[in-house]
Amino acid sequence: MDRDLVATPPLAPTTPTANLHDLMMAQVRDLYAAEKDTVQVLTELARAASNPQLAYLFRLHGSETREHILRLKRVLDGQETRPTPLRNRGKRGLLEDCIELASDQTLEPSVRDAALIAVAQHLEHDEIASYESVCTWAGVLGLHDMAGQLALSMADERRAESRLKRLGESMQARSQRIHTTT
Ligand SMILES: [Fe+2]
Repeated sequence: MDRDLVATPPLAPTTPTANLHDLMMAQVRDLYAAEKDTVQVLTELARAASNPQLAYLFRLHGSETREHILRLKRVLDGQETRPTPLRNRGKRGLLEDCIELASDQTLEPSVRDAALIAVAQHLEHDEIASYESVCTWAGVLGLHDMAGQLALSMADERRAESRLKRLGESMQARSQRIHTTT
């Protein structure tokens, strides 16, 4: 495990989670902070990608993520909740992994592209899980407009993950064909 992560002191609880609404808004705050960081991370991933289609997918999802940030800000404002810095260790770790990989010059380009896809898929899976929880809780609390808005972002995350998965599979299939014919 990374020494810096081990050395990170325990974080204070993100918020008092006295009830489901508090728990949901803690998750929304972390999602908002993480999506803001994700925009920058996606720019780095696009820069690091060798495959132009992969770079395009990262840029495309960067645009979608900017929309997600606006939606989350509207939710925070609507619930009179202030944003906070990202405190979720899992999300922070995933974002750090992306940055580390994007700056790694030691990998062969096609291998790095495969690794970039894998780490970005991890990021998307985490976002999907967070949006699923928030949407479920908003529905339970009768906040149907909020649930509907965040479900739009969740659908984008699912599409982004699926696009990465399909591109990764086609890149691997192509490189396998090249290897078997040489
Ligand atoms: Fe995403």
